[in-house]
Amino acid sequence: MNKGTTSITTQDLDQRLQSQRVPRYTSYPPATEFAGLPPETQQNWLTEINKDLPVSLYIHIPYCDQLCWFCGCFTSITHRYEPVAKYLDLLIQEIEWVHSITGNLRVSHLHMGGGSPTTLSAKDFTRLLAFIREKYSFDANAEIAVEIDPRTIDDSKIRAFVASGVTRASLGVQDFSLPVQEAVNRIQPYSLVEIVTNKLRDSGINKINLDLMYGLPLQTIDSVINTAQQALTLAADRLAVFGYAHVPWMRKHQCVLDEFPMADPTQRLQMFNAMKKVFTENGYETIGIDHFARHDDELTKSLHARTLRRNFQGYTSDQAETLIGFGLSSISSLSQGYIQNTLKLQDYKKALQENTAIAHRGIAISQQDKMRRTIISELMCFYNVDLKQVANQYSLDTGFESELTKLAPFFDAGLVSLDDTVLLITNNGRPYVRTVCAAFDQYLKADSSHFSLAV
Ligand SMILES: C[S@@+](CC[C@H](N)C(=O)[O-])C[C@H]1O[C@@H](n2cnc3c(N)ncnc32)[C@H](O)[C@@H]1O
Ligand code: SF4
Repeated sequence: MNKGTTSITTQDLDQRLQSQRVPRYTSYPPATEFAGLPPETQQNWLTEINKDLPVSLYIHIPYCDQLCWFCGCFTSITHRYEPVAKYLDLLIQEIEWVHSITGNLRVSHLHMGGGSPTTLSAKDFTRLLAFIREKYSFDANAEIAVEIDPRTIDDSKIRAFVASGVTRASLGVQDFSLPVQEAVNRIQPYSLVEIVTNKLRDSGINKINLDLMYGLPLQTIDSVINTAQQALTLAADRLAVFGYAHVPWMRKHQCVLDEFPMADPTQRLQMFNAMKKVFTENGYETIGIDHFARHDDELTKSLHARTLRRNFQGYTSDQAETLIGFGLSSISSLSQGYIQNTLKLQDYKKALQENTAIAHRGIAISQQDKMRRTIISELMCFYNVDLKQVANQYSLDTGFESELTKLAPFFDAGLVSLDDTVLLITNNGRPYVRTVCAAFDQYLKADSSHFSLAV
């Protein structure tokens, strides 16, 4: 394989790369490529799931009590419980409908995300988990992970988690500094997170993840270091450190934050590196682009075993090839392609009443897509990929000439290197991994202004 060359300076390149916008590559093709599919697609694809292999399930709860101004998730705010209760009835109907198509399946992993699954009452959480366990067979060691807003949890909900077999709790923290919390409309003192973490552990849910963010208004290098040091004292198993994706054209409420000066890409990188230093010097290993895990954690083990994978929630050690998503906006990843449930409650309700497909958008994936997905996933997980080996795996004959030509400035700047057929992202190139992946993305258009910053 031959690499290309150019005469661009490293400084020019750094500037250009830092202001670039590219997909997050939690899927390939990215969700922005999803389009209308014939209505029978969902049913046909679900029918063909291989019953001999374990599957992963995802359940989306699109409700929160209060809107964080930075939020990029698919959620809506409700101050009444009635909409949540009604949504739960619809979810149960959806599970029933999907089950009528798939029959029983073996489940190795269930993730509940949102929004905030903690908006569900203890009684309804128990009902939902009991229902899904009645329909599908969970492996004895299945992971059941729940995203938790520490402000909306109480003892009865923790008891319901334990009784339902929850094994992992993922707490949204973001930042511990009060001025930052005030700016983003999320007041959540350290003491609250500490109490919730202790209660979860005392109840036996001792796999704890924390979500943190950088690039938020009023954050400084010192303040994010402080947050990282406070997070350390909670001794989480995993930490996710997300760069704030400011996309007000998609999430209008984020405009509120336009009144604050935002960190530029260089400052964002400095913030991330400062947090990374705190974690890696204190018992955590870097996992992919934005996760940290203890040395004995499954994520770290899967990184070393080269079985780590990237999915919609970030990184996972789960090996299931099939992911079935339930609830508004959720995405299923099936062997034939991706399929996304409707975003509209009325359509969701109507589809369930009429026993028709809930997912009309998605994309069928070709062998070519699968090969590129593997390349992108390996780069995002391991920062290297044997291009020839992956092409052979999919029986495709390509030398990746055009991709390597696109990467010429990266070779010249020492951000990537090629060792025979292995493409390697160097330490200096790591912040630009998404942009390197973009060279293998056949769907990326010249205008990528709708994506978030690459760094
Ligand atoms: C569904 S929330 C987690 C559960 C719960 N809703 C909470 O916030 O505590 C998922 C995570 O996405 C991250 N997040 C939300 N909006 C984001 C954005 N605009 N950019 C980057 N990360 C974001 C936050 O770290 C948040 O904890
Ligand atoms: S970050 Fe979490 S709690 Fe805040 S609005 Fe978004 S989903 Fe809700």
